[in-house]
Amino acid sequence: MDLLPFTRPDIDEETIAAVAAVLRSGWLTTGPKCKELESALSCRLAGRPVRLVNSATAALEFALRIAGIGSGDEVITTSLSWVATANVILTVDALPVFVDVDPRTRLIDLAKVELAITSQTRAIIPVDLAGFPVDRDGLYSLAARHGLRVIEDAAQSLGTTWRGRELGSFGDLVAFSFHPNKNMTTGEGGCLVMNTEQEARQFEKYRLQGVTRCNDGTYDCDILGGKANLTDISAAIGLGQLKRLDHFNRRRRELARLYFDQLAGLPLELPPADFEQSNWHMFQVLLPADLAARRGEIIQRMRDSGIALGVHYPAIHQTSLYKRLDPLRSPLPHTEEIAARILTLPLFPAMQESDIQTVASTLSEVLNATYAKGPKT
Ligand SMILES: Cc1ncc(COP(=O)(O)O)c(C=O)c1O
Repeated sequence: MDLLPFTRPDIDEETIAAVAAVLRSGWLTTGPKCKELESALSCRLAGRPVRLVNSATAALEFALRIAGIGSGDEVITTSLSWVATANVILTVDALPVFVDVDPRTRLIDLAKVELAITSQTRAIIPVDLAGFPVDRDGLYSLAARHGLRVIEDAAQSLGTTWRGRELGSFGDLVAFSFHPNKNMTTGEGGCLVMNTEQEARQFEKYRLQGVTRCNDGTYDCDILGGKANLTDISAAIGLGQLKRLDHFNRRRRELARLYFDQLAGLPLELPPADFEQSNWHMFQVLLPADLAARRGEIIQRMRDSGIALGVHYPAIHQTSLYKRLDPLRSPLPHTEEIAARILTLPLFPAMQESDIQTVASTLSEVLNATYAKGPKT
């Protein structure tokens, strides 16, 4: 039996041919294809400077460095995210300060952000979990009131809009991911959208050893940079994907609507029904509280029936590293509750309507069977 994955990239023949052309061209590393993809992204995002790297993790780290964040600084973020969101704060020697999420949107609660601001706070990293946008009006007015930088972890939200404006086309520093499970991919990769060409030049140094090339063939190295440049092979994939991004996102929305129809009678908490703004990066449901402890069993039963589910995410502050760093931290009740009950259902553009029906009916059977088995022993 073929397993229905929870996500799968969709690469067309034209893109495969474009990758082959790069492979034949003799130029594999950062070159004309990267420039072309940076321009195409910038064009889409109101002409703002965009630079590519080999991951959104690198984009977020360099964004923090560009914002001058380092030792002794506090950065407020959510714990309901991929661990990279907080790891980058530690990487630059700053302190992640987690605040709870809103239980309905599952996104960072801006009222709680305001309460967590101290004299050490320098920035906020909001995360558009599953592609749902954090309230950009509230976010940027709060940041302006307190003089904070915003580094948007928009890893999951390329194509999402806020009040009619695409994320990345406005705001402070905005990072997108092109990991294969994202709405568009470069194999691995990411980018940062910035405010000025000066920030973009700094970013270029951070991504490649701190080096600035001179016209006479020499170079200077004036800061410590990393090695995070993207290849032209990856950029060729990205160019093919970017052309299809709007189509992918429309298809995800259609499939998400179908899930709402098909899951209506089940004892699950559904995500916000946002068919205007979200790019529907993931379709995530919450299990009934009395089944939370049996999530592993439910995932296994679904897998035995040919359907893969995901858990996005365990709360970052409950992982061993973060517990060790801050053993006395106060609980984040909504984050912990959601992290314990959340499940990601399959959602990707090549899915058929019948796949959605199969996921819903199988999930219904699995929930019934799990209840029928009685309490966990
Ligand atoms: C919310 C979030 N932040 C950051 C990242 C890191 O992206 P990358 O894998 O491109 O480094 C991801 C990717 O999974 C993500 O989902």
